[in-house]
Amino acid sequence: MDLTILVKVVVLWQSHIVSSQTYGTYYTAAVYEHNVILNPNPSVPCSRQAALEHMKKNLDVYEEKVATAAKKGAQIIVFPEDGIHGFNFTRQSIVGYLESIPDPQVVSWSPCLQPGRFPHTEVLHRLSCMAKNNALYLVANMPDSQDCGSSDPHCPPDGRYQFNTDVIFNDNGTLIAKYHKQNLYFESAFDSPPECEHVIFDTTFAGRFGIFTCFDILFYDPGITLLEKYKVKQVVYPAAWMNQLPLLSAIQIQQAFATAFELNFLGVNIHNSLLGMTGSGIYTPSHSVYHYDLDTSEGKLLVSKVPLPVYNKTSHKTSPPSSKTHPINNFFLNENRECDKSFVPKLMTGSVRAETFHSVMMYDNYTFIPVMGTDGDLTVCDGLLCCHLLYHRSHIPDELYALGVFNGLHVVHGTYYLEVCALVRCAGSTFDSCGGEIAEASTLMDFYIEGNFSTQYIFPSILASGMQLAFPDLVGWEQESYFMNKKSMSSGLVTAVLYGRVYEKD
Ligand SMILES: *[C@@H]1O[C@H](CO)[C@@H](O)[C@H](O)[C@H]1NC(C)=O
Ligand SMILES: *[C@@H]1O[C@H](CO)[C@@H](O)[C@H](O)[C@H]1NC(C)=O
Ligand SMILES: *[C@@H]1O[C@H](CO)[C@@H](O)[C@H](O)[C@H]1NC(C)=O
Ligand SMILES: *[C@@H]1O[C@H](CO)[C@@H](O)[C@H](O)[C@H]1NC(C)=O
Ligand SMILES: *[C@@H]1O[C@H](CO)[C@@H](O)[C@H](O)[C@H]1NC(C)=O
Repeated sequence: MDLTILVKVVVLWQSHIVSSQTYGTYYTAAVYEHNVILNPNPSVPCSRQAALEHMKKNLDVYEEKVATAAKKGAQIIVFPEDGIHGFNFTRQSIVGYLESIPDPQVVSWSPCLQPGRFPHTEVLHRLSCMAKNNALYLVANMPDSQDCGSSDPHCPPDGRYQFNTDVIFNDNGTLIAKYHKQNLYFESAFDSPPECEHVIFDTTFAGRFGIFTCFDILFYDPGITLLEKYKVKQVVYPAAWMNQLPLLSAIQIQQAFATAFELNFLGVNIHNSLLGMTGSGIYTPSHSVYHYDLDTSEGKLLVSKVPLPVYNKTSHKTSPPSSKTHPINNFFLNENRECDKSFVPKLMTGSVRAETFHSVMMYDNYTFIPVMGTDGDLTVCDGLLCCHLLYHRSHIPDELYALGVFNGLHVVHGTYYLEVCALVRCAGSTFDSCGGEIAEASTLMDFYIEGNFSTQYIFPSILASGMQLAFPDLVGWEQESYFMNKKSMSSGLVTAVLYGRVYEKD
């Protein structure tokens, strides 16, 4: 029996220069990373009664966490994708778990107040009562069944749609919105909706939120449309995300989304260390509270104050820092070295000319250039995308780093076009280890990284040793390039990435 089980709770507050401003008003949000109790035989059909007995175990945990969150002042709580029913079902085996969820745009219904109004809605009933009894907004994920007929050309042969669905209840238990996940991730139990749904909902405490689910985060629709057309500045995001280092662990992409679009993001993952699922957080443009733990099987409730969003702020995309303050112009001229005329970045002398090499990172063939010496200036290109790195470190480390570029179609576990610039710690000491999974590093490095992306959709993130997130000092556009810089980190650098998506090339 190991009595020294550590619950790794990472709570980080940092300032973020781009978005430094004073907010007057806050609300309190909660997310619960749930260690979902799974059906041990998800591919075997079961009765409604057996499905309800299974889901009750998860709902009992939800009920407890909602009460705790409410006591801590939460006005909204978000639960993860698949948190009630689990995953790995087939189209047939999930049938006992389905409820026909009425369209909240058509009927106004509080299942807690009117439990008999629609049949077989036990899960909706329990969730509604949790919201009502604790007077908070509640977001959860469950499967929805919607009958369809021959008049609908998209109707599946068995006469019904089965949707991976988020439901949103207000603080009196009324079902106010539902969202059917668009971008399914190998979920054979479910259909994509025939038309992408853009779902927003209003709250009394913080105005408008948009919602999308898990894999959706990598695609234009519905997420980017919610931001651009519906002017959403707050997102709730249930996920069941399998972490992938070094670029796409759940907390990286969640915070990157909040940073890229300067919005509030309530992201919540399933907790399942065997499947590599963890990573949830409450992210704002300038602060994050998050959780990452692959060592225990404990769920985790996060509760945090969140500043109300600012709707009229000019985007940093249209107002980059002036060239005087631009970090590239004074990167090598910091306090310590301003007067040191002898200082010349080693690689800029040309005496060490590093060769590029190829290595596979997350199934993509990256072109890398090794990061050598204490200081340097590197460029590496793939097609029309060139990534540029300036760096400084106090001594030559025994850890290998490389600057990588990828400009191409990603085709494994989903198809999506990427433009990526990434500074990574390599998993080992050989070039072919660059791009491999690693979470620890001891090298402190100041860096400025930029790329001349063809897309405007770039997700910046910095990962430090031990799965800690950092905020860039500055991030945004400078002329034709998107850049990010960071100095004086207190932990080793694992990854600094500008993850660009070119949606129209998918
Ligand atoms: C469920 O599916 C995931 C992803 O497809 C797979 O990696 C995992 O092994 C499956 N888990 C179980 C318990 O069947
Ligand atoms: C509950 O919320 C709904 C939707 O906002 C509202 O129409 C209704 O009047 C509320 N009911 C009560 C009892 O407050
Ligand atoms: C935001 O901008 C709109 C017009 O663009 C204006 O009507 C509104 O008053 C502004 N709101 C704030 C809070 O400044
Ligand atoms: C990566 O791309 C390079 C250049 O196109 C090629 O030589 C190399 O074989 C590729 N590597 C892999 C693993 O596909
Ligand atoms: C990026 O820079 C390289 C090198 O200067 C140039 O060849 C390329 O055309 C640029 N790409 C874009 C998209 O502007």
